[in-house]
Amino acid sequence: MNEAVSKSLFQPDILADPFDFYEEKRAESPIFFDEASGTYVVLDYDLISEAVGRLDDFSNNFNALLSGGKSDEELANDTEVQAIQAKGFPQVNTLLTADQPVHTRFRKLVNLAFSMPKVNKLEDSMREMSNELIDNFIGKGECEFVSEYAIPMPVRTIAVQLGLDVADASTIKRWTNAFVDRLSGMMTRERQLETEREVVEYQHALKANMDERRKEAKDDILSDLVNAQVDGERPLDDAESLSIVQQLMVAGNETTTAALAEGMRLFATNPDQYKKIQDDPSLIPNAVEEVLRMSSGSSGIWRVMHRDAELGGVMLPKGAMV
Ligand code: HEM
Repeated sequence: MNEAVSKSLFQPDILADPFDFYEEKRAESPIFFDEASGTYVVLDYDLISEAVGRLDDFSNNFNALLSGGKSDEELANDTEVQAIQAKGFPQVNTLLTADQPVHTRFRKLVNLAFSMPKVNKLEDSMREMSNELIDNFIGKGECEFVSEYAIPMPVRTIAVQLGLDVADASTIKRWTNAFVDRLSGMMTRERQLETEREVVEYQHALKANMDERRKEAKDDILSDLVNAQVDGERPLDDAESLSIVQQLMVAGNETTTAALAEGMRLFATNPDQYKKIQDDPSLIPNAVEEVLRMSSGSSGIWRVMHRDAELGGVMLPKGAMV
């Protein structure tokens, strides 16, 4: 087989370190068609910015990807999956996969829960949790940074933010793994069914928490969400609230775990840069931005073509994944 055809951005070895592949492809063209995955990949900052702004051409509704690339018809015919899903709540488009004007409505409600004072209030508990995790390994003189810090820190933070029990962090991680695995498109059938069951388990556990907050609000995002109302609109229903919390849980820890781990790796391999921030901690915010720029834990965003449209001289057909 022709190597150029078989090489895909989504091969595990390329995903692990995609930068040479990006360079190679970008030298040929700012947009290439990844045949193995059927995806148009845009590699140019200006074209990406343009695409993200062209809301009539590029849709956020990439649910086909979230369901492992299966069509609505294939999903409807999968009776085993349907039977599990019937025990839970319908999955609806709210933030990440919604287009305007639906997106705007949800975003306004979520913004209320993410106001600057509310986010700032988290700082003390984050500091405390961070110190606790570091205390667990500081005496050893070494640590396995990903499992001992980069995973637990974001999961605990999102648990506190949502108002869930930090003691349940491993359950929250298990639920988010279920959501993330569905994105991979590489699950065995057994794992697929397990993730479906875990999603339903998540839905019922969160629903119980949300019902409690409706009776008695607490100082947490869950209370803010279920009781939020703007511009006289109706409050979120259960399926909508569950979808938003699911997205916050996944987005709030996967990305941050990757950013922490990459940041630590970059400092470990660039000790001169580490020395700079040790000598002058005011450089830390810029260092964080630089870690995200050099090695983002979320190096791609998805769009689906609403209609045939051209970008950077390439015609992208209606329905294409970009
Ligand atoms: C280093 C950390 C993070 C990175 C690199 C990151 C990256 C991104 C990117 C690239 C998008 C846009 C996707 C698109 O346009 O298709 C996004 C959306 C989103 N992120 Fe993050 N994120 C991070 C942390 C977080 C955290 C901590 C939370 C929540 C606590 C969060 C919640 C969300 C939500 C809810 C969306 C969807 C927003 C919307 O559609 O209105 N993210 N993130």
